[in-house]
Amino acid sequence: MCGIIGINSNKSVSASIINSLKKLEYRGYDSAGIATLSSGQINEVKSEGRVDNLEKNSLVQNMEGTIGIGHVRWATHGSPNSLNAHPHSSQNVSVVHNGIIENSTLLKKFLVGKGHKFKSQTDTEVIVHLITEHLKTDDIVNSIKKTLKSLHGSFALGIIFKDQPDLIVGARRGSPLAVGYGPNENYLGSDSYALKSMTNKITYLNDGEFCVIKKDHVEFFSDDGVKINKKVLELSSQEEEYDKGDYKHFMAKEIEEQPLTLKNGIKEYIDNSNNDINIYNFPWKISEISSITLIGCGTAYHSCLMAKYWFEELTSLDVNVDIASEFRYRKNRFKRDSLYIFVSQSGETADTYAALDICKKNGMKTCAVVNVIESSIARDSEFVLPIHCGTEIGVASTKAFLGQILILYILSLKLALLRKDLKKDVFTQKLNDLKKLPKLVDQTLSIDNKIQTISNTFNEAKGSMFLGRGFSYPIALEGALKLKELSYIHAEGYPAGEMKHGPLALIEEGMPVVVLAPRDNYYKKTISNMQEVIARGAKVLLVTNKSKDEIVSENIWETLEVETTNADLLPFLLTIPLQKLAYYSALKKGFDIDKPRNLAKSVTVE
Ligand code: G6P
Repeated sequence: MCGIIGINSNKSVSASIINSLKKLEYRGYDSAGIATLSSGQINEVKSEGRVDNLEKNSLVQNMEGTIGIGHVRWATHGSPNSLNAHPHSSQNVSVVHNGIIENSTLLKKFLVGKGHKFKSQTDTEVIVHLITEHLKTDDIVNSIKKTLKSLHGSFALGIIFKDQPDLIVGARRGSPLAVGYGPNENYLGSDSYALKSMTNKITYLNDGEFCVIKKDHVEFFSDDGVKINKKVLELSSQEEEYDKGDYKHFMAKEIEEQPLTLKNGIKEYIDNSNNDINIYNFPWKISEISSITLIGCGTAYHSCLMAKYWFEELTSLDVNVDIASEFRYRKNRFKRDSLYIFVSQSGETADTYAALDICKKNGMKTCAVVNVIESSIARDSEFVLPIHCGTEIGVASTKAFLGQILILYILSLKLALLRKDLKKDVFTQKLNDLKKLPKLVDQTLSIDNKIQTISNTFNEAKGSMFLGRGFSYPIALEGALKLKELSYIHAEGYPAGEMKHGPLALIEEGMPVVVLAPRDNYYKKTISNMQEVIARGAKVLLVTNKSKDEIVSENIWETLEVETTNADLLPFLLTIPLQKLAYYSALKKGFDIDKPRNLAKSVTVE
């Protein structure tokens, strides 16, 4: 999703801005642009598509200026073309924006009435003209303060001014924004990852704050324009070099990295010498928690759903799961004794953050399960459980999913033990099984060849279904999501037992249906549901685990067998072939696997 960069330096900035924009590419975008100030003029260059297109533009190659802003845009208002790409500029001001201005139509009407001429279809352009209007009578700080007050919606902004050769303004409401500090230069960025090649000294803006960035110092203001002091955080100085290596795509690499993700998580949380789970500094007494509410979006929501099955199986806690965009607008009954868990790879998803904010305002206990530990959700939650899977670049989440469900499983085991819902010997057995999981995932990763052939049938089909019961149901949802994200094939995840209440009508001759039926308590029931779809002409791909017991069923089109472990852990293994199916299907279609159309990695608008 949109990303912002600003650099105020005493050397030319265009190459560094382009470089930082490349670091923001992983978020997902469809156009890019840059504006610098040189010889008292704002120079603006924008292009459709990748940052590479922008970089190749001769105007960018010859772009001068020691102060500038850059942007990658994920279209909300107006199609993804170079006209709507940011920055947007007037004679005096140039703006990059991440977020949505909800009252832009009204503001535009007002500004057109004042004689302002609009060039694009974006909501952002009203910000440019509002500042320009206020600058007629006010200084910069007051113009910004007044402009921000009249905006409804969410934003992170980077602003440069024609008459100000040493000043960038940054402002935040809802969308994340960070300030970075360098030698004789300072920066603005959507996240610390984009700034890491330049600095590890960072200040995060809180909601409502704005800042004025000069070459040698930065001033911060509250929303009413009062100066405030902010802490400078020193992040790890190692810039994580993350490239594709010999893989064709980041996604392929990230799928293969999953045994390592699990090893890292297990190393972090499992105390081998005492056969225990260490969750240090857990801020609440166990007796204070009698229910759990898990909240997330997309793949992270599926992790939450997976966790519900484990928490209910292992503990006596009451468990609820919610999609963040639904939770944030519902009339929730907040429960003092509930622990609210926010699951997010990026830690920046706008809806998940809003749900967290509501819980905090209602005095609830909040815990984040995140990958990016410097993220807004991590910073603003009372307690953080990092998943330690390293940078994930592929827009479709893979290793972060396994990382999330691992941490949630570990948490469910620990709470089960502390609440005495699980006997110590059963707990120890489950820990021992868990320690073997990375190896089993590694072995399961080798079922490649068959999946490559199977993916052809999915590519030829109008649509497909993914069915599972119990622990396998969230995995069916995740498998269907992966296929639609990457291959743009219609895929529906459904509880296998629910088919006869509607979706069975969709089944027609030759339709590929993935049935997840591991040898767990649901096995026989799922196999019966499988027969029902086979009888109606579906081509069933059965995904199960290796077993001595023969599969008693006829007319199964294909079978894939993952390794074997206890029933709790089978979801980890079942996930692998589904990720690969989506990957190979998109590969054969020649789609952009790491950056699927219309999607973004970090969804910072609601
Ligand atoms: C986007 C991504 C998904 C991700 C979801 C939630 O839609 O494309 O892969 O699952 O956001 O992201 P989060 O960072 O909160 O896990």
